[in-house]
Amino acid sequence: MRLVFNQRGFMLRRLAALLTFASFASAQASSAPLQYLTGAGARAQPVVWLTWGTLLISVIVICIIGGLLLFGVLRRQAATDPAALLPEKGGLSWLWIGVGLTALALLFSVVWTMQVLAEAQAPRVTIEVTARQWWWQARYLSDDPSRQFTTANEIHIPAGEPVRIRLLGGDVIHSFWVPQLGGKMDAIPGLANETWIEAAHPGVFRGQCTEYCGPQHAHMALEVVADAPGDFAAWWNHQLQAPANGAGAALFTAHCGGCHAVRGTEAAGALGPDLSHLMRRATLASGILPNNRPVLRHWIADPQGFKPGSLMPVPSLSEAELDRITDWLESLE
Ligand code: CUA
Repeated sequence: MRLVFNQRGFMLRRLAALLTFASFASAQASSAPLQYLTGAGARAQPVVWLTWGTLLISVIVICIIGGLLLFGVLRRQAATDPAALLPEKGGLSWLWIGVGLTALALLFSVVWTMQVLAEAQAPRVTIEVTARQWWWQARYLSDDPSRQFTTANEIHIPAGEPVRIRLLGGDVIHSFWVPQLGGKMDAIPGLANETWIEAAHPGVFRGQCTEYCGPQHAHMALEVVADAPGDFAAWWNHQLQAPANGAGAALFTAHCGGCHAVRGTEAAGALGPDLSHLMRRATLASGILPNNRPVLRHWIADPQGFKPGSLMPVPSLSEAELDRITDWLESLE
């Protein structure tokens, strides 16, 4: 008897606890209702359209099937001669029209669902980051080839959405790491690794190579700049513009164009960083130097002094040539 009494007490206590939890839960839930028939963002909207679309298709299919069934039952009841109910030979009966329409509607919804699933999983922006001695090459991919471009060391991303980083090892192994945004992953020659990063709000986030890669390993910084979505679109459009071919362009191409590229000029080298819109970047030499005219001039004159062992040779330039090239690079806003 005592056991039964104890069990009853236990059940009562559990019931009381459940009721208390239910009252808390309902008070919490009422402030933000669960909404799955409206979307509030680019990621959810296609799924919401799909939900409404498949609901509509299902209702139409049910109506067709129900209509055919009702039609058959009524016809059967009204018929006096059962042989008259058989379909005419060679004729297209209502049954087959219904089945065909239903199959088409279901096929359409399957294709639509697969397309939305693929979209929902794919980040909008993919950046191909290639490890170089000793810097980071960043290529912005797009379905439209005319909207692709290459830059270096300073990676812009749109804030508030995931960005896919496709990591390639060019001529060295680096490890891509931006601790505040996640996504630590090695870039290995011959392999394509994928990771993703996301910044919740605009800001500048410092990254660093975390794999020993040679004498400049410690100087392998990178900066990820998270822009508000509108600013990111503006930045991308600006990157696609070609600079006015100033007086220094030919001199730059002759001395530097074998290794560096600047969009819109004949300088198209791929060994060193792409210098299009160079002055939009905050730093030089993989994040170790501030980007301003005096530092830029020093860097061009003596790269081995700043980064011993880097692949940039000391160019043979007169003081006047150095000035003209620096002037021209300074115009690459
Ligand atoms: Cu790259 Cu260490």
